[in-house]
Amino acid sequence: DKGEYRHFMLKEIYEQPRVVKATMEGRLTDSSVLEQALGTDAADLLENVRHVQIIACGTSYHAGMVARYWIEELAGVPCSVEVASEYRYRKHVIQPDTLFLCISQSGETADTLAALRQAKEAGFRAALAICNVPGSSLVRESDLVIMTQAGPEIGVASTKAFTTQLTALLIFTLALARHNGLAPEKEAEIVKAIHLVPGQVNDVLALDGEIEELSKAFMDKNHSLFLGRGSQFPVAMEGALKLKEISYIHAEAYPAGELKHGPLALVDSEMPVVTVAPNNDLVEKLKSNLEEVRARGGELFVFADKEAGVKSEEGIHVMQIPSVHEITAPIVYTVPLQLLSYHVAVLKGTDVDQPRNLAKSVTVE
Ligand code: M6R
Repeated sequence: DKGEYRHFMLKEIYEQPRVVKATMEGRLTDSSVLEQALGTDAADLLENVRHVQIIACGTSYHAGMVARYWIEELAGVPCSVEVASEYRYRKHVIQPDTLFLCISQSGETADTLAALRQAKEAGFRAALAICNVPGSSLVRESDLVIMTQAGPEIGVASTKAFTTQLTALLIFTLALARHNGLAPEKEAEIVKAIHLVPGQVNDVLALDGEIEELSKAFMDKNHSLFLGRGSQFPVAMEGALKLKEISYIHAEAYPAGELKHGPLALVDSEMPVVTVAPNNDLVEKLKSNLEEVRARGGELFVFADKEAGVKSEEGIHVMQIPSVHEITAPIVYTVPLQLLSYHVAVLKGTDVDQPRNLAKSVTVE
């Protein structure tokens, strides 16, 4: 039931403050992670993990890419991320004491399951699943499971599944980091930041009207570029995926630093450029990337921390996002990009909840 909403996708976008909170519930105190809530043998399985191999597809893969930044930064454990359909068809080396982490909303994605089954034969320390469907194949075949509490996701374009995956992945990262010397004060700082996320997502939802206004600029465009740096690069990838899936506008994501290495050649007034720019130490670099785009007549749409000092001017439309902790920023910054693609699709009159050629769950190759 869509209730008061025009589409399931919009309803699911608006459910995010609640379901992100539900995914935290029982797993965090005010200032620490409750490791035993991740499973009675979680402590044993997480001790001595020397490498994390993440496998997923589509949006879930983007969640894995964000997690890699967290895992290497907070836990100091090397982490690799790969799409399942590539991983399963190449020779790969499983390093000793690898934690094999599959991320899947449905738990039934054929490639992800195949990669897990294959890796089992090669041997690894433990299989962890981040999944939204209890009793799914992935859940049944893993040693440790962290359920996201997104509830059923009907829209083919994944929204609340992604932000709850990120929430679960950050909690997992903190548990792993504990085994690898993360200072309790740092853990407390991040847990406090996680508790703020549902409220911050609500603040972003309040910008819906403004984002709808911005979306008009995309209606008659055929291409777009999404830029981000650091853990916001996968957010840019997810933003681009949303736009292409439901509005059928070609959208490509690049790490902002790659702009000069090729894609800048494409930038002109017909190529809107969307950028996520939270206030971290990369923002100064990002500002110079923005100048490069503007100098070529490109129209910029910047989602920036209101403290970041990026101002609207000729050719630059800035949406001020409430200040958030750098670690939790990818969760919050995903939401305006979801709303943007939603409104573009509605304006274009596409089938938002059931885009052409796509299925909710890819259970065959
Ligand atoms: O159920 P899964 O998370 O394994 O699905 C993976 C992808 O098929 C899925 O995320 C897909 O990319 C979404 N439709 C994107 O919105």
